[in-house]
Amino acid sequence: MRLTVIGTGYLGATHAACMAELGHEVLGVDVDPDKVAALQAGRVPFHEPALPELLAKHTASGRLRFTTSYEEAAAFGEVHFICVGTPQRKDSEGADLRYVDSAFASMARYAGPDALLVGKSTVPVGTAGRLADTHAAEIAWNPEFLREGFAVEDTLRPDRLVLGVGSERAEALLRAVYAPVIAAGTPVVTADFPTAELVKTAANAFLATKISFINAMAEVCEATGADVSVLAEAIGHDDRIGKKFLRSGVGFGGGCLPKDIRAFAHRADELGVSLAFLREVDAINMRRRDRVVELARELCGGAVLGARITVLGAAFKPDSDDIRDSPALNVAARLRLDGADVTVHDPEAMDNARKAFPLLGYAVSAEEALVGADLVLHLTEWPQFREISPDTARSLVSRPRIVDGRGVLDAAEWVAAGWEFRALGRPAPGEADRMGRLKR
Ligand code: UDX
Repeated sequence: MRLTVIGTGYLGATHAACMAELGHEVLGVDVDPDKVAALQAGRVPFHEPALPELLAKHTASGRLRFTTSYEEAAAFGEVHFICVGTPQRKDSEGADLRYVDSAFASMARYAGPDALLVGKSTVPVGTAGRLADTHAAEIAWNPEFLREGFAVEDTLRPDRLVLGVGSERAEALLRAVYAPVIAAGTPVVTADFPTAELVKTAANAFLATKISFINAMAEVCEATGADVSVLAEAIGHDDRIGKKFLRSGVGFGGGCLPKDIRAFAHRADELGVSLAFLREVDAINMRRRDRVVELARELCGGAVLGARITVLGAAFKPDSDDIRDSPALNVAARLRLDGADVTVHDPEAMDNARKAFPLLGYAVSAEEALVGADLVLHLTEWPQFREISPDTARSLVSRPRIVDGRGVLDAAEWVAAGWEFRALGRPAPGEADRMGRLKR
């Protein structure tokens, strides 16, 4: 089939390359000529495993092309996927729909009567219906669930396909687009527009709630001398709860979960329904960042002014160079504001971090970042950081004190190497006895 993908950011570039991989002829459209030129030359402007190879393969074969022209896109194919961003509005918690509205309007202007415009962006429930009422072209909603770092895998082998369709023709066209994915056994859920829109926001709200639930338990653990990692493992053995997405730590960030729960709560208010608990989910998440700042102060003897602090991690999660709403950089920037001398290292996100936070120091390696540190904060769980030897690290720092904000470092090993070790939601080694009695 001949498909177009409107918006070639993170979602669109991945979708375009994956659709070419499924065997379609694909034209990617973006208003940014630099982005179009980079993608056409086979260069991915962000870090995503497996995507550069796929993009290079299909731009070389000619199956995947990019353009800045909506007119060309309308003439190229019949099914148009709209993959533009829906950032948080500056003046409220709600989603900013200007890119979605303008992409639909531009395509609707040029598209012929047979065109199917398929929204993939995460939108407030009711958006697809509104667009369908506004434009003559047929509309469908097909939300994506891809995770950064696994975007190609999640697109080619998704857990499910959700097809929000208003006609048999739209469903048949989407089933044809995804035929190889469906043939591989992927479950397909067909739904009306509002349900399809809600599947995405509900899924993200559930995931965020799960993380904040375990992080709230971490707060209780901190107050009682209990250990949240043991607690999470034990409750996770119950299949109804499950082990996944139950890692407690400095909380969630990124371009999706934080803004999506805010937009969802805001939309619910408009609808006269209360999703106030999502505001608490957000607040719990933010409190984990406060807790790291507080621990840093405590370990530095009450204030961080003048302390040399090393932050390991800048991306909001490993295997990504995305720093949007990154807990690591939020903590780093706050400590800098409090007068600490902060040095950051991240394997992939240094360029992005440097642009957004020019007042922080940056080191080209974890080792270089550790030299002379009074305190180390481990805030993004890159596998590389787990391999740092506590003995080697001890020989580099001024004061061997570390906070594990992701709960993945081996406390016993660090303590044995002479480190003062603190983790979120777990008693400091020696802080509580086996009866849970706090010694402080
Ligand atoms: C998320 C959803 O998973 C995806 O389905 C949706 O399409 C977009 O939003 P993403 O933001 O790429 O994807 O990252 P994800 O792997 O879900 O992690 C989100 C955040 O939660 C990260 O900051 C991560 O560090 C944090 N997290 C995740 C935890 O703190 N604990 C966990 O157990 C899991």
